[in-house]
Amino acid sequence: MNLLDTAVEAARAAGQEIVKRLSQERDVQSKGFRDIVTDADLAAQAALVSVIHSRFPQHAIFSEEGLKPSREAETTWVLDPLDGTTNYAHRYPCFSVSIGVVRGDEPVVGVVYDPLQDHLFCVERGAGATMNGARLRVSQTDQLIHALVALDYAREPRLRAEQMAAMVNCSRHIQTFRSLGSAALSLCYVAAGWLEAYFHWTLSPWDVAAGSLMLLEAGGAITDINGLPWHYTLPRCLATNSVLHSAFVEAMRA
Ligand code: 2AM
Ligand code: CA
Repeated sequence: MNLLDTAVEAARAAGQEIVKRLSQERDVQSKGFRDIVTDADLAAQAALVSVIHSRFPQHAIFSEEGLKPSREAETTWVLDPLDGTTNYAHRYPCFSVSIGVVRGDEPVVGVVYDPLQDHLFCVERGAGATMNGARLRVSQTDQLIHALVALDYAREPRLRAEQMAAMVNCSRHIQTFRSLGSAALSLCYVAAGWLEAYFHWTLSPWDVAAGSLMLLEAGGAITDINGLPWHYTLPRCLATNSVLHSAFVEAMRA
């Protein structure tokens, strides 16, 4: 079995765990300020690890809920078992499973799965990105005034305020804003051409390893919020349809 098939099988197994628990009483624990984990995050993580290790026992796993690679491995699976935990805890129906496979410090395969809509986003470096089998392509919109833009909010007050200032600047130029609450899905929505841009100040590698590759393979651009080169381990990102990238960098400043 190849990497992508394994990632798809793992994402579907995790999605099943998440949906099964959605209507049940949930166990919500605090991990930090405005940061929570539920029983579904942990059950989804266990489902992912079980599938991945049954196929690739030699690969390393780096996952949001406490799994760190114990050794150097050529291939690392970077996992967010439940991206959008705050939504999930409120039963707000938008969340995903995100799986990135990293080699040589760059994502090479990714799967993002929205189990409620049964949207399966898949990507392989050099081979393009798809949603339920259909090729993804970013939007060709070239005017900010027609741009639909998503963001999610930093938890830490000072960073949230900084981000809001950029949002106010941007708001003068664009059509309007959305907030999905799942960074991985938001990147896929830019890749699919449903949004022109997405930005966030405080992301983690597991939020973006899969979605950033999805976006690049669909023709999008992703940088630091100042337009500087970006890597999936950096927290602040601006992801766009590429045509509007430099316009967004400017719009967020003034
Ligand atoms: P999570 O649901 O897995 O925690 C919402 O803000 C989006 O950004 C979610 O994808 C959330 O991931 C992610 N995120 C990660 N780190 C964050 C942080 N420090 N503050 C806010 N959102 C964060
Ligand atoms: Ca998560």
